[in-house]
Amino acid sequence: MTAATPALELTGAGKTFGNVIALRDITLSADPGSVTCVLGDNGAGKSTLIKILSGVHRPSSGELRVNGEPVSFSSPRDALARGIATVYQDLATVPLMSVWRNFFLGNEPASRGGFLSVKQAKETTKKALLDMGIDLRDPNQPIGTLSGGERQAVAIARAVHFGAKVLILDEPTSALGVRQSGIVLKYVLAARERGVAVVFITHNPHHAFMVGDRFYLLGRGRLLADFERGKVALDDLIRAMAGGSELTSLAHEISSLRD
Ligand SMILES: Nc1ncnc2c1ncn2[C@@H]1O[C@H](COP(=O)(O)OP(=O)(O)OP(=O)(O)O)[C@@H](O)[C@H]1O
Ligand SMILES: [Mg+2]
Repeated sequence: MTAATPALELTGAGKTFGNVIALRDITLSADPGSVTCVLGDNGAGKSTLIKILSGVHRPSSGELRVNGEPVSFSSPRDALARGIATVYQDLATVPLMSVWRNFFLGNEPASRGGFLSVKQAKETTKKALLDMGIDLRDPNQPIGTLSGGERQAVAIARAVHFGAKVLILDEPTSALGVRQSGIVLKYVLAARERGVAVVFITHNPHHAFMVGDRFYLLGRGRLLADFERGKVALDDLIRAMAGGSELTSLAHEISSLRD
């Protein structure tokens, strides 16, 4: 692999469900050590896109490549085996379970020589979190006692610890307030620093602008625009997201309803 090879690359991809065209002709790539943002309104096709990248759906057309190699995933397990981890908004964590057990959930601690002791598992959790800048006081505390932002952070640290090369984050900040969003964005950058190709799905142009290296705008299943950091202003992203004339006509419609 050369430095120029994207970790993940989608070329001319489309997805149909019966008569519904969810995505058409999508070409995008995510590089190691960078944050690739996918922005789009409701129904734009963001979730469908994630499902293609994470092995839930197969594209109806086009090609997916990992480190330059064409792949065809039959399941999320196949994607995970290629280092593609996905953190969903509703997080697959068990609230009453301790942080350390959640950390190892799905990655049972079978070390080379057999099983990791509970003590080792707790230490590993604490260290992995600390490596990402999360200072957890007690790995025994139930994960449900952490804030939404901290839980997202633990999920990000877990994916990085277990070797994710590509980390797909599905709207990780959409349910969070300003401070909690800030926490998550900090760990997005920590994953980037570790060389991970982060794919950050959001409908918040402010959050995208803070961390993104590249920005793809999705609308009604199509790629509407593609921007690079340094060549785009926050205002451009906000305007692109607002959908320009579409929003203006909606505002007129709403104000006429009040009259
Ligand atoms: N399994 C499916 N069967 C039929 N249509 C589908 C299916 N999955 C998605 N679609 C359609 O594809 C389009 C894109 O949906 P998708 O869920 O990808 O959008 P989204 O950008 O994630 O929206 P949101 O922000 O609301 O989550 C929608 O019109 C949706 O109805
Ligand atoms: Mg969605």
